[in-house]
Amino acid sequence: MIQMDTSNARSFLPADFLTSRLDALEGARQKLETGSGLGGDFTGWVHLPRDYDKEEFARIQAAAQRIRQDSQALVVIGIGGSYLGARAVVELVNSPNFNLTHKNGLEIYFAGNGLSTDAMLEVMELIRDKDWSINVISKSGTTTEPAVAFRIFKNLLEEKYGKEEARKRIYATTDAKRGALKGLADAEGYEEFVVPDAIGGRYSVLTAVGLLPIACAGVDIAALMEGARESMEALAVPGASNPAWEYAAARHALYTAGKKIEILVGYEPSFRFFGEWWKQLFGESEGKEGKGLFPASVEFTADLHSMGQYIQEGERLMLETVVRFQKSSGSIAIPHDPDNVDGLNFLAGKDLSFVAEQAMRGTVLAHVDGGVPNMMVTAPGRDAKSVGALIYFCEYVCGLTGYLMEINPFNQPGVEAYKNNMYALLGKPGYEDKKAELEARLGG
Ligand code: PA5
Repeated sequence: MIQMDTSNARSFLPADFLTSRLDALEGARQKLETGSGLGGDFTGWVHLPRDYDKEEFARIQAAAQRIRQDSQALVVIGIGGSYLGARAVVELVNSPNFNLTHKNGLEIYFAGNGLSTDAMLEVMELIRDKDWSINVISKSGTTTEPAVAFRIFKNLLEEKYGKEEARKRIYATTDAKRGALKGLADAEGYEEFVVPDAIGGRYSVLTAVGLLPIACAGVDIAALMEGARESMEALAVPGASNPAWEYAAARHALYTAGKKIEILVGYEPSFRFFGEWWKQLFGESEGKEGKGLFPASVEFTADLHSMGQYIQEGERLMLETVVRFQKSSGSIAIPHDPDNVDGLNFLAGKDLSFVAEQAMRGTVLAHVDGGVPNMMVTAPGRDAKSVGALIYFCEYVCGLTGYLMEINPFNQPGVEAYKNNMYALLGKPGYEDKKAELEARLGG
């Protein structure tokens, strides 16, 4: 279902870039299949599209229906792996303007993914006169950004509806057994959904973490899972014709040959947050032990007028991966203009997608000529099934390349450093010595 084309990277790759890695890829495949590699305890996502909890899935669909009936807005609170996947799918399948199109009937606002006072005030204002609910998503329950946001929105909800009714409007997605949010959800009687132990945040979009907000946005989550299942079955087949093997081998070979940055290119504005999700997936998975391709993302053609110069002629550190969707949802013909002041009559009657296609083809060749290897991932469309397939494809490639790079693709030890400093500076109990040390370094 997902197609891979590395032909425009071949001039940068040794002829045996794939064949020389087949044994290593088979080793990586077995590690993913059996959970026997580094971080193997976190490979629950590998068979998730087949083995997901069907009872919980039905509860997610029922909860989404209830929320769509009793609410005009849903505030989704979470950060990182507990946020990006849901937003990526909602925007890619629907639109970044989904709250304006009103196709869905339910507005969705994402909160707790930063510490901006202005952003929080804006959401508070936008929901003030509406009926609304909360989906708080946090495995630990103690991540500062969502925990602070949850306090604030929970208070607002209780002020509006009273404690009893507010409880029925809070949906908690958290650890099955432990953690601060789990304790609170049990005590308050919120409806609960599970962040599975064997699936890290950045691989969790196809669990309740992503599925509840995605279902609330009116996206067909059964089709999403079906697309992921088809990808899972196709990518489990070993061999050189496996598109994930080809992509993983090419990425690894280009990295080994000195490329340090992978730019994910989309031509759809709705793809922007998929790029954000993809950056977390690859950045947190590969970026450790002084290794890893730095994941960046751009939106063409818009960014050809800003980042295009650097990509064409700057430091030769990059490779490009374009994600292309075969179908648009409609067509727009370019009108004829009798005055032809802009000289565009040679395009009159042509479809806008034809213009976009030629822009993409021309850009690929220009960048290849400029020393940027290009790879193309093609998905059938932006529908839920295709997006499910694309998600699984990215996750699987990430797991494979992680093992080719000989790192643990499923941990994120580096994320703790900033958190510990922030806790210390905020005066969290237990961090007194650290606080003194940091304040001295900061001169305060
Ligand atoms: O990938 C990760 O582990 C992180 O991005 C986490 O998902 C993020 O920090 C949120 O953590 P939690 O769900 O515990 O609030």
